[in-house]
Amino acid sequence: MCGIVAYLGKKEAFPIIINGLKRLEYRGYDSTGIAILNNELKVFKKAGKVSDLEAYASPLDTIGNIGIGHTRWATHGKPNDTNAHPHKSGNSRLALVHNGIIENYKYLKSALKELGHHFDSETDTEVLVHLIEELQKRDDLSLEDAVREALTRVVGAYAIVVIDKDNPTKIVAARKDSPLVIGIGNEEYYLASDATPLIEYTKKMIYLNEEEIAVVELGKPIEVKSIDNIIQSPTIQEVDMNIEELEKGGYDYFMMKEIHQQPATVADCMRGRINAEEGWVHLGGVNQYEGKFTNASRIIMAACGTSWHSALIGEYLFEELARIPVEVEYASELRYRNPVLTENDVVIAISQSGETADTLSALRLAKERGALTYGIVNVVGSSIARLTDAGSYIHAGPEIGVASTKAFTGQVTLLTLMALKLAKLRNTISEDYYRQLLFELKVIPKKISQVLSQNEAHIKYIANEIKDKTNALYLGRGYNFPVALEGALKLKEISYIHAEGYPAAEMKHGPIALIDENMPVFVIATNKSAYEKIISNIQEVKARKGYVIAIVIEGEKTISEIADHVIEIPDTVEPLVPLLSVIPLQLLSYYIAILRGCNVDQPRNLAKSVTVE
Ligand code: M6R
Repeated sequence: MCGIVAYLGKKEAFPIIINGLKRLEYRGYDSTGIAILNNELKVFKKAGKVSDLEAYASPLDTIGNIGIGHTRWATHGKPNDTNAHPHKSGNSRLALVHNGIIENYKYLKSALKELGHHFDSETDTEVLVHLIEELQKRDDLSLEDAVREALTRVVGAYAIVVIDKDNPTKIVAARKDSPLVIGIGNEEYYLASDATPLIEYTKKMIYLNEEEIAVVELGKPIEVKSIDNIIQSPTIQEVDMNIEELEKGGYDYFMMKEIHQQPATVADCMRGRINAEEGWVHLGGVNQYEGKFTNASRIIMAACGTSWHSALIGEYLFEELARIPVEVEYASELRYRNPVLTENDVVIAISQSGETADTLSALRLAKERGALTYGIVNVVGSSIARLTDAGSYIHAGPEIGVASTKAFTGQVTLLTLMALKLAKLRNTISEDYYRQLLFELKVIPKKISQVLSQNEAHIKYIANEIKDKTNALYLGRGYNFPVALEGALKLKEISYIHAEGYPAAEMKHGPIALIDENMPVFVIATNKSAYEKIISNIQEVKARKGYVIAIVIEGEKTISEIADHVIEIPDTVEPLVPLLSVIPLQLLSYYIAILRGCNVDQPRNLAKSVTVE
């Protein structure tokens, strides 16, 4: 939540920061601002998107070689011009941008008010810049020492970047529980919440660690210290990403590009990790902790949103194939109760961004209790990737659309590989079934392509039929139950139609009361094991005049006669069905949202990376 970009060098800072903020808009997009230092401190802020700020500020004097920018996802105070970052100190000497929450801001604010400080905004962030100013003045501290002193008084999460009119060649940055990356150019520096705004300028980056403060000054090497003032030795990494990955590549929206990338991203996730002919699955992280995994009393999967739905599929896979008990937890709930967690447990955190605050907190708790922690993450170098004992990247490439699509199929692919690996290690799977699953996995990318190419026109037609509905129900059994949840989440988050996912058999325990001719019911009906039962569930909906759209295996006859529409997917083994059955649901929600005039990449009130608890 919230994106930060900063520049220090010889180029014009304003266009670099605007460009960078556009790349980070997926992190928040309700208001934006930039501060430029050029003898005086000029601050430009606007409610709305980065393009609104650009239109407003471009005709003004934005000249300067040092600046900081921010795109906001509001927590404290409405998204308006005043609450937008950067915030200035009372003496207008400092400007600061912040991603996170200062939890004790009320206490600090009243203490600062007593000292004569006046606040313009409703934000927690403005309090922090006043606190830095106060300490700087009171104790005659350098900028970095004042920042460090202030941060020792703060409770909460932060990535901050501060500039000071009296230090025009210096930027001070710090992080705790929110990410911050420093890009090292040729006699210039870039800072951002993630690597995406930086890669067009440099591939050399430093990922700041927890509670580290960096002093970035022209003509000097970067200095990184811990909040306790101990010098650190930061590692400079070469980031392997290219600019094309951050463009829409001819699609109207990133979400559509990402849906269509799935044949490639699922294949990338498996690359070098599986050989069907030779019958092996290789996952470095699992190999490293083989004993812990095979002897674990249980595995706990912690995640949020779409990643939580992947975890549910993981539960079905691990229990069926590897016979290990699995508990799937909302990370936020795991963290704030007192769970029984021991060193015999393995906790798997699943996260596209690797920065989700709830998942990070759950992970920290698991570490405190001695459990082995494993990350299934997309963003390389992210906080979860670095905090876990071991892990596997899903290699889906940057996912920019707020609605997660290719990360979901990447996570499910990775969980399938893990389940197969553990099943083999624990000897809980027959050789024939193991080989069949490996061979089927190998052809899944082709089958995803088939789903994408064969159904689009029909899906557009169905989307048009559904677009004016106000509610929808998604039903599925077994492996398709989490897919029903995911289909419902996709629809509500980008089209604002209320939708619920249910295990198909649960419908008769309540939701059936909602069914009438106005209720579209999406039934993911590809099951072989409970085929007759799912047919009965569809009949029950039809008997109450519900409008049924069923996802079926190609060639299916019975459901095709009862349902209002069927969307066919290729046949595969049941544990792999989610990788195919989710695709039509992603496309349906996309087209419904487009027909309703919604911005699918930046749905209202949401942000891609949820770094607040
Ligand atoms: O980055 P993460 O996978 O940890 O994010 C978790 C959720 O915030 C995320 O999946 C969210 O639910 C998406 N908007 C769903 O499309």
